[in-house]
Amino acid sequence: MDWVSFWDGAHSIYVSDRHKQVHYARITADITALVPRPDARVLDYGCGEALGAQDLSRSCGALALADAAPTIRAKLKQRFAGEAKISVLSPEETAALPSGSMDVVIVNSLLQYLSRADLVGLLSVWRRLLAPDGALVIADVIPPDVSAIQDATALLTFAAREGFLIAAFVGLARTAVSPYRKLRADLGLSTYAEPEIMALIAAAGFSVERLPTNIGHNQRRMAFRAVPR
Ligand SMILES: C[S@@+](CC[C@H](N)C(=O)[O-])C[C@H]1O[C@@H](n2cnc3c(N)ncnc32)[C@H](O)[C@@H]1O
Repeated sequence: MDWVSFWDGAHSIYVSDRHKQVHYARITADITALVPRPDARVLDYGCGEALGAQDLSRSCGALALADAAPTIRAKLKQRFAGEAKISVLSPEETAALPSGSMDVVIVNSLLQYLSRADLVGLLSVWRRLLAPDGALVIADVIPPDVSAIQDATALLTFAAREGFLIAAFVGLARTAVSPYRKLRADLGLSTYAEPEIMALIAAAGFSVERLPTNIGHNQRRMAFRAVPR
């Protein structure tokens, strides 16, 4: 199994429905704050279930949702069939979009599941898709020194605040014996020190800065904003 198959199947990364709802509510609010204009064309790459897509689409001109997992895409297509502003794309369809056709590209919580070679390839796709005054935001990047324990602590803190603490304890115990844990041990997660990821982004033709806060609840992870150079 690889990471895309993992995300394509049934998994229990979200410890409860409440967790999934508050996760997407939080990232949708954070992403919405990054949309510069009501007519901006936004690409959410590695969008997952995108529970906040309808809300996000109200703050932008067009929203393209891209994900490599076919089952996720099929559900998104069904959910957003009547939404003129929202399109659902495969990675191949995304790569075939016209140059300069996006004002904002959001990549949240994806890099850990990509090899470095795949990341370099995608950076050049995102660079080509961005309009000259557009921006790429890459967030939830895991630094090498963040442990699974620290991730668990961040989840429990979020859960305590958002009212799903018991589910979080149960979920963490389940994750410890889950396919996620096995895949994490077998395939690993890609992690980046701040200078390394900034150098990779810059090498793809961007000026890049680290943002003061990450998207989502885990502030040990990092977010970057890059503009075409
Ligand atoms: C952790 S989820 C993130 C979902 C959402 N962005 C969020 O922050 O909640 C990672 C998503 O990336 C997708 N993914 C993994 N590899 C990908 C690739 N090479 N291209 C596009 N999507 C990919 C997975 O299918 C999954 O839906």
